[in-house]
Amino acid sequence: MIRNNVAELLSSNKFLQEINLKGWVRTFRANRFIALNDGSTINNIQCVVDFENTDESILKRITTGAAVSIKGTLIESQGKGQSVEIQVNEIEILGDSNPDEYPIQPKKHSFEFLRENAHLRIRTTTFSSVMRLRSALSFAVHKYFNENGFYNFHAPIITGSDAEGAGEMFTVSTLNKENLPKTEDGKIDYSKDFFGKETNLTVSGQLEAETYAMALGKVYTFGPTFRAENSNTTRHLAEFWMIEPEVAFNNLDDNMDLAEDFIKYVISYVLKNYTDDLAFLDNRLTQEDKSKPMNERSEMSLLEKLHFVVENNFKRVSYTEAIDILRNCKPNKKKKFQYIINEWGSDLQSEHERYLVEKHFKCPVILFDYPANIKAFYMRLNEDGKTVRAMDVLFPGIGEIVGGSQREERLDVLKQKIAELNIDEKELWWYLDTRKFGTAVHSGFGLGFERLVQFITGMGNIRDVIPYPRTPQNAEF
Ligand code: 4AD
Ligand code: MG
Repeated sequence: MIRNNVAELLSSNKFLQEINLKGWVRTFRANRFIALNDGSTINNIQCVVDFENTDESILKRITTGAAVSIKGTLIESQGKGQSVEIQVNEIEILGDSNPDEYPIQPKKHSFEFLRENAHLRIRTTTFSSVMRLRSALSFAVHKYFNENGFYNFHAPIITGSDAEGAGEMFTVSTLNKENLPKTEDGKIDYSKDFFGKETNLTVSGQLEAETYAMALGKVYTFGPTFRAENSNTTRHLAEFWMIEPEVAFNNLDDNMDLAEDFIKYVISYVLKNYTDDLAFLDNRLTQEDKSKPMNERSEMSLLEKLHFVVENNFKRVSYTEAIDILRNCKPNKKKKFQYIINEWGSDLQSEHERYLVEKHFKCPVILFDYPANIKAFYMRLNEDGKTVRAMDVLFPGIGEIVGGSQREERLDVLKQKIAELNIDEKELWWYLDTRKFGTAVHSGFGLGFERLVQFITGMGNIRDVIPYPRTPQNAEF
């Protein structure tokens, strides 16, 4: 039998049509009006029950969260707020939901509470909107690369290398913890492990993607990456999804162009195709803003911010220029942007990044040419011998959303850098081969998918834009 869905019915004008709908009750009012949702759209459809001719025992079971099957007729709505509704001819309760126990009541729940109920929070309007947008963005990512001649490359999840050289890795091991084999010098003997060496969950697919770009030209990865960094912030996850394009013959300028074009494309995609969900989130934030003191309110609404990003150029600024700006700005007494004057050569803290983006330039910023000593080993050394062709894209409210670079393509320079950092060259023999055989300029970047979803949905905490967040002390579900 054909099953209808709410999204299709709400835009239908096939009145008096017999319909068959399955979904979950959001609310049941006056023993008569069911607001039914089936996930196909943010909107509920009103289903009007003929309560006089419906068994009392059935009416009692129409509760928030219950799964129901409805047969009925599509009619023009009599009430305000919707154009169509369903006159219920037959209702069957598929799955009860005891109102005394069901945690998701039709009222405002705090995000903290909902995080503890991550398996049910998707039944709220906010989370279903966020996750529909997440899905749409994921599609737009693949669509963009597909339309632009990229191949999707599946990077390994288990690797033997540390792409970022930051040592923030989760070890993958099958060794018996009670009886760990040890080498003569007392270290764990990974030669006895499953892979015969120490392995970890990938922190980035970049190194492997580089090897593929050097044959297929343009590739991208889009997969889970893992960082064992102990950061309890609203921007960090231990498991997050990263999009990493890598392009042969692209230099840093091409890389910036790609990042900007790509971000604008995916935002435009949801602006065009997901208007209902975005309008809801925009309204949610506007209401939230109204409860704040004047000086803490946003200058732009969510939708205005998204349009602004799509319609304006990102500002491109070198690290050295950024340091000058930071040195010369007057520290803000009102706490928010109080920062220490930054010295050339030190990494920018998030408060510096936020100052540049939110107060100084008031638009997305691409910072480039960072000091070599604060960036990863694979970045192309500039002629000045002290900066590298690195770039970070900084977004308002988010901070760093993209990190990337032109890669060091010269074998001798790369080897020297690896030696300086005490990285075992033998571990990277396959990576160094790309520089030995047909090396060329190439560039790429990594975009943190959850930070992008955060920006687009306006959600304040990264834990609320991924279905089951992994953070320190938190892998409940
Ligand atoms: O700047 P990162 O560490 O760069 C790399 O991993 C490069 N290998 C990427 C490349 O050039 N192919 O990470 C890239 C992005 C960051 O800008 C941020 O958006 C996101 O990944 N990211 C995180 N997102 C959530 N939680 C974390 N713990 C993250 N760490 C990085
Ligand atoms: Mg980075």
